[in-house]
Amino acid sequence: MDGKKKIFSGMRPTGKLHYGHMAGALINWVKLQNEYDCYFGIVDWHALMSDYADSSKVAANCQEILLDWLAVGVDPNKAAIFIQSHVKQHAELHLALSMITPLGWLERCPTYKDQILNLQNKDLSTYAFLGYPVLMAADIMLYKSFAVPVGEDQGPHLELTREIVRRFNNFYGDLFPEPETLLTPSAKMPGLDGRKMSKSYGNALEIADDMETVWNKLRTMTTDPARYRRTDPGTPEKCPVWDIHKFFNKDEAELAEIHAGCTSAGIGCVDCKKKLMVHVEAMMGPIHDRRKRYEGDDKALREILESGAARARKIAEQTMDEVYAAIGLLK
Ligand code: TRP
Repeated sequence: MDGKKKIFSGMRPTGKLHYGHMAGALINWVKLQNEYDCYFGIVDWHALMSDYADSSKVAANCQEILLDWLAVGVDPNKAAIFIQSHVKQHAELHLALSMITPLGWLERCPTYKDQILNLQNKDLSTYAFLGYPVLMAADIMLYKSFAVPVGEDQGPHLELTREIVRRFNNFYGDLFPEPETLLTPSAKMPGLDGRKMSKSYGNALEIADDMETVWNKLRTMTTDPARYRRTDPGTPEKCPVWDIHKFFNKDEAELAEIHAGCTSAGIGCVDCKKKLMVHVEAMMGPIHDRRKRYEGDDKALREILESGAARARKIAEQTMDEVYAAIGLLK
């Protein structure tokens, strides 16, 4: 597409997305799609790597993620939006890369050890799960992505991708660029209990939550623990609600007022949260409108995924031709 640099990024379809995904990734994608040739994949094979024993929700989760992306403003006229398994070359390149990836690299990957410990209710001692980063490398390399926008937690995976790229290029000639990590300049979006927002902690505000649900969650959200009584002065810098304010509230004068009100015990936490709701409603309103518009329109959703996959396939087929030629398989 008109010589723009290419970018791939993906998300695992494990359920509805939350405000953390929005602040940490999607807002950035919405900007990147204007500057680069973007390929955004809903990586269903990656979801199966942990959810293989009960695959019943993967398809529905793909739909939810698609709706959340579109709602926040990922634009199918700019970026190619598609399902990983619809573009078979992801599986194909994964196989090719698995030939050259040393076992030790995968066994040593810190995210591998972490996940095995964290997801102890699932048996992750599978062949595929060990190779999670190899499939991720395939996703990225298929589009010769010059960079990958990800959060810090994906750092080790990207490092492995670069190692796999170097090894491939060494064996078969320079075909792939080493992708840079585009760390998302992410706004802080703590969860309701003040920890990192995460579905598994049960502390998330979901993008699809209606305003009544959001208010019910926010109402009981943790604030500065030192502000025990209404008359105790608070410290916004120690309050997770303040971080959320800074994301949604662009009115500097009002922010200063709230800051002063909190530190002097002039306003209470409920007052502060009510002020926050006004800004949440303003930002989420159009997002919810867009989500609703797409929700009933299966035909439009189908078309988005079909044309996204077709665009992705065009690049992917070309890359695979080059891969076969580089390795030297019989034509
Ligand atoms: N591993 C990523 C995550 O859990 C998802 C992912 C799969 C991805 N393939 C990718 C991200 C390629 C960026 C590029 O968030």
